[in-house]
Amino acid sequence: MATMARSSLLLLFALCVLFFSHASAVYNHGAAGPDAAGDGTKVYIVFTERQPTAAELSEEEAGAAVESFHHGLLGDVLDGSSSAPDRVVYHYSRSLHGFAARLTEEERNRLAGKDNVLSIHERVVYRPQTTRSWNFLGLPQHNDPVKFPFENDVIIGMVDTGIWPSSESFSDEGLPPPPAKWKGACVNFTHCNNKIIGARAYYNGSRNQSPLDAEGHGTHTASTAAGRAVAGASLGGLANGTARGAVPGARLAVYKVCNEEGCFAEDILAAFDDAIADGVDILSASLGTSRAFEYGDDLMAIGAFHAMRHGILTSVSAGNSGPFYGSVSNVAPWTISVAAVTSDRKIFSELVLGNGKRIMSNSINAFPNVGKRSFLVDPGSCDEDALADKKYKGAVLLCGVTYRAQAVKDTGAAGAITIGLRSDGDAAFSFPLPTASVSKKQYKEILAYYNSNTTRLPMAIVTSTRATKETAAPAVASFSSRGPNTVTYGVLKPDISAPGVDILAAWSPKASVSGSLSDEREVPFNIISGTSMACPHVTGAAAYVKSVHPHWSPAAVLSALVTTATRVSAAPDAEFAYGAGQVNPVRARYPGLLYDAGEADYVAFLCSQGYNSTQMAAMTGRAAAACPDEVSGAAGDLNYPSIAVPVLNYGVAFAAEFPRRVTNVGPADSVYRATVTTVPGIKISVVPDELAFSAENKTMSFTVSVSGKLRPVNGTLGASASLVWSDGRHHVRSPIYVFSLKHSDMMME
Ligand SMILES: *[C@@H]1O[C@H](CO)[C@@H](O)[C@H](O)[C@H]1NC(C)=O
Ligand SMILES: *[C@@H]1O[C@H](CO)[C@@H](O)[C@H](O)[C@H]1NC(C)=O
Ligand SMILES: *[C@@H]1O[C@H](CO)[C@@H](O)[C@H](O)[C@H]1NC(C)=O
Ligand SMILES: *[C@@H]1O[C@H](CO)[C@@H](O)[C@H](O)[C@H]1NC(C)=O
Ligand SMILES: *[C@@H]1O[C@H](CO)[C@@H](O)[C@H](O)[C@H]1NC(C)=O
Ligand SMILES: *[C@@H]1O[C@H](CO)[C@@H](O)[C@H](O)[C@H]1NC(C)=O
Repeated sequence: MATMARSSLLLLFALCVLFFSHASAVYNHGAAGPDAAGDGTKVYIVFTERQPTAAELSEEEAGAAVESFHHGLLGDVLDGSSSAPDRVVYHYSRSLHGFAARLTEEERNRLAGKDNVLSIHERVVYRPQTTRSWNFLGLPQHNDPVKFPFENDVIIGMVDTGIWPSSESFSDEGLPPPPAKWKGACVNFTHCNNKIIGARAYYNGSRNQSPLDAEGHGTHTASTAAGRAVAGASLGGLANGTARGAVPGARLAVYKVCNEEGCFAEDILAAFDDAIADGVDILSASLGTSRAFEYGDDLMAIGAFHAMRHGILTSVSAGNSGPFYGSVSNVAPWTISVAAVTSDRKIFSELVLGNGKRIMSNSINAFPNVGKRSFLVDPGSCDEDALADKKYKGAVLLCGVTYRAQAVKDTGAAGAITIGLRSDGDAAFSFPLPTASVSKKQYKEILAYYNSNTTRLPMAIVTSTRATKETAAPAVASFSSRGPNTVTYGVLKPDISAPGVDILAAWSPKASVSGSLSDEREVPFNIISGTSMACPHVTGAAAYVKSVHPHWSPAAVLSALVTTATRVSAAPDAEFAYGAGQVNPVRARYPGLLYDAGEADYVAFLCSQGYNSTQMAAMTGRAAAACPDEVSGAAGDLNYPSIAVPVLNYGVAFAAEFPRRVTNVGPADSVYRATVTTVPGIKISVVPDELAFSAENKTMSFTVSVSGKLRPVNGTLGASASLVWSDGRHHVRSPIYVFSLKHSDMMME
């Protein structure tokens, strides 16, 4: 039964994606693109050993030396008359080591045999995963850059669809010049100011593309993370209020990597290569695939690994492939992956039939002339053929699943009724004209009314959209991707959640409001949903933490965010849906204790996952085999702030140990005591259960033992337990989620 409900949800969502491409998360491997030139070549990404460069070389000279090294490698393997420079798409030489090139399969195979070549990858195509939310998170509003001088030093790199710089959200009024550490640039972009301090764009090997945003997505995410407060922001009056980012004083560096066909891995890696060298503090990538990739094949995760080595946390979206178990993508433990929850504003409209019946719709009707009584007309179908040359001026058309917006508009109709949008109501969707989107069942009722033998003409009103208080918030959005992490069951993903439903933020006037080409409205703000919208909330919160603790490692920032998150209680999928809970930026600044980790910890983790020297070298950019010969250790050994406990099956006895260490970042003399919350049948002990610190930055170790038998409870997969370390002032909470592997496999099918 539960599975059936889920399948029909997917169908509904698949339909809605047709209209709302921002919320889509589609994966494809080696797809068509600028490489599909018909000459038998494809774009491959090649990681190489780092070439030692003489210290006295300038960055340009060092770059030129690396380029000639790449050309030398390629020159040996190319067929016929091709020259290496013609085949190279990008050289990665600032922070990463390698290049992207167009190769035939034979050339690729020859290159794979060369010394110095660590690994060769087919392109992965990522997709964008499409204001009040900050008030809802309890982050105080401020817009005075002088009052928050530390924020001015934080630089957020947005890896996205570009930016629309003239939005009021990106005003630099009152901001000082960029911090001295900034080494970035504004390429083919004359709009940089003290807010947008860098902008670059990548496509097909060119680093000179325009960073202007024609999709809206990048403008929206950038303003959510770091937009200035703009009063009176709304979509045609809807959701009117102050739109603002988490850290209005922080700087933005824009890296545009997406085009109409998606966001190609070679462009994303070029962005990471530059962003790390440019000096960003945090990276935000609301991009993903519809399933998780092995860390070594997930090219964005490899980019994020290099960012981590340079002290930069990458915040990523968990994906929009929910509510299915195992749908979470972007699962590398050196990134923070963000699920989407509702905020306390619910957006809806209604369809009022002539007989007085009111039907809820989750469409966004922010149009000036909506709300008029109109005739209902059933044209049989609303596709281009059926509606060609038809005129239905002022009518509301019954379109069912055959809704073609431009064709409906061309008839002069005032609105339409469509089936297919998710009617569970958790996200609202825009259309190019007033629309009621209803469930199949509701649609049948409407048809029954239309066909009823009354003397009166069938009439209906499509109402304008309203916003009301949502008391059930935060609830996890059904589209938000769920755990378990299918690459490593023992690392809990998603990590955390943040508002991602009906988010109002800045928009590009070059972008369609509804995602439909027939939509001609130009708006400065738009309302969209997705884990794409949740991700920059956490990016902003991470920047907020970084502004107080500029030297904290990526793992430290992740730990601070995860251990201070507010529990979300409503979801049946529990931690697989919301991770540790909803981000709480204010508490995350002073977490008390940190679960820290560095490159060596992640390398040990990858070794425990059976990574061989080739795969490890591709990830770390170092040829030396880092792993012992025998696979040793377990995923649960990673000093992660959450604990995932996969067990074989319900009723099967299990026992597992999780070594952990915490660093005191609170007062020097602090005594923390452990409190465990568990469920019947599962025993959790912590040894030692008291940690007495005598100094700041001191690290102490302990072991968490979890054992017993998991019982199926209320039809859920697992059991939610927790460990809280408290000194009376700080409550450092680690979620512990015990789940049945057998049943999660079944649920994933
Ligand atoms: C991509 O670049 C290559 C080499 O410069 C060129 O031959 C090809 O036409 C370009 N493709 C597109 C779609 O721009
Ligand atoms: C800037 O970007 C536009 C759009 O991509 C492109 O047509 C133009 O050639 C670029 N300018 C330079 C100097 O590369
Ligand atoms: C938004 O609210 C402000 C203040 O309440 C008001 O002045 C403004 O007219 C409203 N804007 C719209 C478009 O409704
Ligand atoms: C490492 O594993 C990959 C993928 O399974 C394989 O292609 C490669 O040959 C292996 N390398 C070594 C040195 O075993
Ligand atoms: C603790 O570490 C932080 C930076 O990591 C440093 O600023 C601080 O001075 C250290 N405190 C002590 C007592 O060493
Ligand atoms: C199971 O469901 C019931 C009723 O919904 C609820 O009262 C109870 O707390 C749930 N038990 C657990 C362990 O979640």
